[in-house]
This record gives sequence, C-alpha cells and structure tokens, in this order.
Amino acid sequence: MSLASDIHLPALQLVNVSMGYRGAAGVVPVLHEVSVGFPERAMTAVMGPSGSGKTTLLHCAAGLERPVGGKVFLGSTELADSDERELTTIRRSRIGFVFQQFNLLPMLTVYENVGLPLRLDGRRVKRQVVMEALRQVGLEDKAGRRPAQLSGGQQQRVAIARTLAAEPEIVFADEPTGSLDRSTGRQVMDLLRRAVDKAGRTVVMVTHDPLAAAYADRVIFLVDGRITGKIDHPTADEVAVELSRWEL
Ligand SMILES: Nc1ncnc2c1ncn2[C@@H]1O[C@H](COP(=O)(O)OP(=O)(O)OP(=O)(O)O)[C@@H](O)[C@H]1O
Ligand SMILES: [Mg+2]
Repeated sequence: MSLASDIHLPALQLVNVSMGYRGAAGVVPVLHEVSVGFPERAMTAVMGPSGSGKTTLLHCAAGLERPVGGKVFLGSTELADSDERELTTIRRSRIGFVFQQFNLLPMLTVYENVGLPLRLDGRRVKRQVVMEALRQVGLEDKAGRRPAQLSGGQQQRVAIARTLAAEPEIVFADEPTGSLDRSTGRQVMDLLRRAVDKAGRTVVMVTHDPLAAAYADRVIFLVDGRITGKIDHPTADEVAVELSRWEL
C-alpha cells in the first residue's frame, strides 16, 4: 500500500498499531490500536506513566520491533512491507536514535562515533561533515577523546552530533535528558529544538520531564497503551497538570 499521492503526509504515521509481548500467561498487550501522525519539521513529545508503552511505541515506529497489528508509514514507505534487510537499510539511511544512556562505542573516539552511522550506511565519512556536527553541539575540540573521558552531558551531545551527521528524516529520542541534570538537559533540548528549526528534522521524543516537553510543538499522552490526550504548544505547567492526574 502506498500513500505517495498525498503531498501532505506526516513524516511518520501509525495506523491502528498493536503490540504485545509473550509472557507466561500468553501474549500481554502493550499497545492497543494506536493511531497517530507525527508532522514533519516538528517536535512531538510522548509522555505517560512508566510501563505505558512509550519505548515500545518508539521501537515500533523506528522499525526496531515489528508490531503485531496495524501499519507504520515512514513518509510513503510502509515498514511492514520491508524485510529485515530493507528495514536495516531504512533505519541506517532515514532514522536516528538518541538513547537515555547515550550508547556510544567506548573503544571509538568521539570523531569515529559520530562518523559510524555514515560508515554503516555505506556513505563516505567526510571530515567536514563530522566536524560540523561536533561544532553544532560545541564539542569540536573533543573529537579525539573517548566517551569515558567526557561528562554525561557531553556524551549525550556526541550522541546528538552522531544523529545530525547522518541527516536522518526522523530523530527518535528516548528520555534523552533522563540521565542529565537540569541545566545540561536544557542544553540537550536546545540542540534537539535547533535540529527541528534550523535543519528541518522531525523529532519524536519520550520524556518524563514537563520542562523538556515544553520544548515540543505537541505532547501526546499514552496511558496503558492508548493515546489519551494531546496538548499543542504545551507549557511546562499545562503538562505538569496532566501528569498529576496519573500520580494521584
Ligand atoms: N521485550 C519485552 N518483553 C516482554 N515485555 C516487554 C518487553 N519490552 C517491554 N515490555 C513490557 O511492555 C510494557 C511497556 O514497556 P515500555 O518499555 O514500552 O514502557 P515505557 O512506557 O517506556 O516505560 P518507562 O517510562 O518505564 O520507560 C511493560 O509492561 C514492559 O514490561
Ligand atoms: Mg521507556
């Protein structure tokens, strides 16, 4: 199935996506027919209680896991139509991922880490591209270091440089500020925001932090594997009010 004729496509669209995991007592459902579009050149935050399915949603959307039902469209490409090899190619060429724990390779230098996705995708690693990505995150002077020689915030900025250098259509970020203090978290959010505003990236980010969510153009709330609400142009206060409903 193709949606190529529609020029107003969201960058990413989930249609009735269901997911579950096999447990001792059969399949435990995690996502229940979730339908949501993520507009291009925008940042969407996904929030919800622990265990509500946020990471699972990101993994299904990024082609890291196959949903048991429904469809995922990346632009006009339907991921379910792709075999494992094609999915790997799509992930390498069109998707970037930023994790809570940075996921840098410890034996590679900062420079080599940033160039790695390009190399894996069979593209030439141009020094200028890698150094420009490092410059954007303010770490061009750390190119020769190993990740262990950097602070947590610096490592997360390297992880962001790594996704920027590969120029993906969509950047997925799973609690990118979860391991950082508040002011370092703010720097990381500024970078993701700039990736949207200056480089035209689409960002889908899971966060528990209302201050981080306020950087987004839209927040969607996921509770027990279902989307229960959304806020456009959220403020931290509005988000905090919504969160306090679950915490009662
Ligand atoms: N690989 C897996 N195998 C079995 N169950 C899983 C697997 N991954 C996730 N789950 C279960 O699916 C549910 C949703 O998990 P998920 O990681 O998506 O939640 P989350 O919203 O990201 O939570 P958190 O905020 O704590 O990161 C949980 O009950 C979890 O135990
Ligand atoms: Mg999670």
